[in-house]
Parts: sequence; C-alpha cells; structure tokens
Amino acid sequence: MPTSPALDALTQPAVFAQRRARFLEGLGGAAAVIPAAPLAVHHADCEWPFRQNSDFWYLTGFDEPDAVALLLPHRPEGERFVLFVQPREATSEVWHGFRWGTEGAVERFGADLAHPIEQLPQRLADYLKGADGIAFRVGKHPKVEPLVIAAWAGQLDRAPRNGHAALGLVAPDALLHELRLRKQPEELERLREAARISAEAHELARQVARPGLSERQVQAVIEQHFLEQGARGPAYGSIVAGGDNACVLHYTANNAVLNGGELLLIDAGCSLSDYYNGDITRTFPVDGRFTGEQRALYELVLAAQEAAVAAVAPGFTAEGVHETALRVLVAGLVELGLLVGERDGLIEQGAYRHLYMHRTGHWLGLDVHDVGAYRLGEHHVTLEPGMVLTVEPGLYVSDRLPVPEGQPAVAERWKGIGIRIEDDVAVSERGHEVLTAAALKATSAMER
Ligand code: GLY
Ligand code: MN
Ligand code: MN
Repeated sequence: MPTSPALDALTQPAVFAQRRARFLEGLGGAAAVIPAAPLAVHHADCEWPFRQNSDFWYLTGFDEPDAVALLLPHRPEGERFVLFVQPREATSEVWHGFRWGTEGAVERFGADLAHPIEQLPQRLADYLKGADGIAFRVGKHPKVEPLVIAAWAGQLDRAPRNGHAALGLVAPDALLHELRLRKQPEELERLREAARISAEAHELARQVARPGLSERQVQAVIEQHFLEQGARGPAYGSIVAGGDNACVLHYTANNAVLNGGELLLIDAGCSLSDYYNGDITRTFPVDGRFTGEQRALYELVLAAQEAAVAAVAPGFTAEGVHETALRVLVAGLVELGLLVGERDGLIEQGAYRHLYMHRTGHWLGLDVHDVGAYRLGEHHVTLEPGMVLTVEPGLYVSDRLPVPEGQPAVAERWKGIGIRIEDDVAVSERGHEVLTAAALKATSAMER
C-alpha cells in the first residue's frame, strides 16, 4: 500500500484553516473559485517538477495539480470549503506517485466536501448558487475560466425566474494578496529557514570560487546545498555571473569560465518544501582581491544597501527604501566622476539609468516576487510588521545602454563591473530584521 508523504509541523491543517477563515470573512457574500496549478510541459511529453499555485497553496496546503478550491461564505457551516481533486487511481499513481484523493482532501486537508475534478463542470453551478458575487481571477486559469463564466451566465439567464444571480465577477487578488503580504509568525519562521539555507550556500560558494572554475560548477555547489538541506531547489534560475555577465540582470546561462581580476555576482536562493523562498545576491572578486575600481563601486553599492536596509521600519515605504538607496548611489557616482551634475536633478531626470536600471526590491514570500500592492492609488503602501521585502541595489557598468546626453562616456577601466547586494528583510515592531545576515557582505569579508 503506498504511503502518504510525511507531514511536518509547518504544514499543519490548522494553519491553513485559519487562513481560510480570514479569507472567508473578507469575501463577504462572494463565492471564491481558486484553481491549483497544472503540470507544465518542459518539452515533448516531459513535464517540469510540479510547482503549486501560491494562492491555492496559501489556502489549502494541497500540493497536487488539477485541483480547485471553492470557498463558499454563503453556504452553511460545514459546507464552506470544497475541494475538487484528482481521485485516487492505481495506474496513475504507479506512473506519477501518491495522490490524496477525495478522502485525503477531507481527512488531511480539512475540506468539508471533496469531489473528483472531473465533476467540476457538473457541480460548479450548484455550489455557486446563492452567492452575491463570484471571486475568480480571470485571465490566468484557461481550463477553469470557461466553467466559471458558464456557471455565472447560467445564473444570469435563470435570474428572472429564480430571483437571484451573482451580481458580478470580482478578482480575489486584493483580498488574498493583502493577507499574503502580511506574514504570520509561522511564515516568518519559514522565511528565516529559507534565508538560513540560502545564506549558507552563498558562504560555500565564496569559499570554492576561484579562477578556472566555471560558473556552472559554482551553481552546482549552491544548489547541492539547497537540496542537501531539504529545500525543493532554487527558488528561481540561479544567476552565477562572472565579470561582464553580471551586467545582464537575468543572466542564467552560467556557462562561462571564471577569470582572475573579475568579480563574481551570485543571485541565488532556495525554495522550501512549503514554497517559502530566499533571495540573496552577493558579489566578490574571483581571486579574492578587489581592484581599485571594483572596490570603489562595491563600497558604494554596500553603502547604498546598508542605508536602504537601515531605513526599513514600520511607517516607511518600499518607495522610500528605493529612494534612499538611489540617493546614496547617485551621490557616489558623481563623486567617482561616472555622473556629472547635482544629485536630486540627476535622480529626477533618470540620468543614472544606464548604470542602475532596476528597482531596489520587492515583496518576498511564497512567490519570490511576492504578491501585494506597492501602491494604492496615489499612496505608497506603508510598511507594517510582518511584511518582508528584499533590498537589492546594484551598479552595472557596461556599454549596453547609451549614456544619457550630458553625461560622461564611461572609461574602459570601469567596464565589466556588475555588482548587486541583496538581503531579505522583515519589517518588525521596532524596525527590521535582516533574515539573510549570515551571508557576509563587508568589503573585508569578500577578500581573502
Ligand atoms: N532573483 C530575482 C530578484 O532578485 O529579484
Ligand atoms: Mn530579489
Ligand atoms: Mn535576487
């Protein structure tokens, strides 16, 4: 008899039940339809390892494809959480592995009712009957969307006789993502764990990196550590970028040889079994010694990053964190002669964008670029305890982008230097907690 996967304390049903209760409360009278992720094709008939949809995971902890959760506040207690799942089936399980089936959905995942996913087309309309609205994210779930629209259209057709139909389709995003943006204590614990493993991997990578090794060999050290520590693997394509490759922000080829005299930029973090992620970038000299130019730019990025991290506190904003880093970077670039002009004017004109072309961070959680608004209308969202963001300024000196008019041409000696320093930072009552502090970043620690 196949055994079910081990359960750990962090994926206990009560955690997910609390999240559903908060979500149900926010839904008012709207019924929510939340689909799981499908399996994604890698090539031909081979699939990628399964990756659950984070919204679905957040509410259910159910880690199988081809499932749909219904959250039904208009139904009586004991009928509000319905799961449609792949049924148990010996042949499929021989090929693809254990499934919890409808019984497991009820017994292990706390569904009030569960049905085989094949029954969704017949049953969906009945479950949605009586709801004031339907909360479903259009444009993302091509298999489920026509079923939701058909159920709603049917209600509208019958409304004159039945006396009721859902008034509208609403996106659950704002409600659900506001919940996900504010991490509960058990989520922070998991982000600390993802940060610990990710930071250790960066420390190992710096110890092994040397001229002659390939970027891929360093990637192997990092990802081996993720797997040894029980993570699923990398949270995103690990970036291991020697020399000028570091100026390509999403470089993932990782197939060049490391050269003495160059920097190595590594942007890598792990994803845990329950999908919480780390996201760390460190940059250091391949042969253990900064050149003068590398050191000057490294110290500038470090100063910007430390100032931005120090600014993280309740009441501040992610926009303010970005602006803090930007002011330090631009002032430093003027001092080094890479920009000419007055700091605030240069920032206003965007005259620094050929050297720093991305934002200083993003929310972090079940998604690496996690959900949650940065802005609500004209207002930047205020940081609150429990929010987690990355702080990741950088400088990328190459001739890929044109130098803005009025700014100096970049001298050869600066070119090929790409630096980013990225930490994961949780907003706390008193200020912040740097989850990734175990990955060293002091200039002296980068040298040997
Ligand atoms: N590793 C992706 C990012 O830093 O946003
Ligand atoms: Mn990041
Ligand atoms: Mn990153």
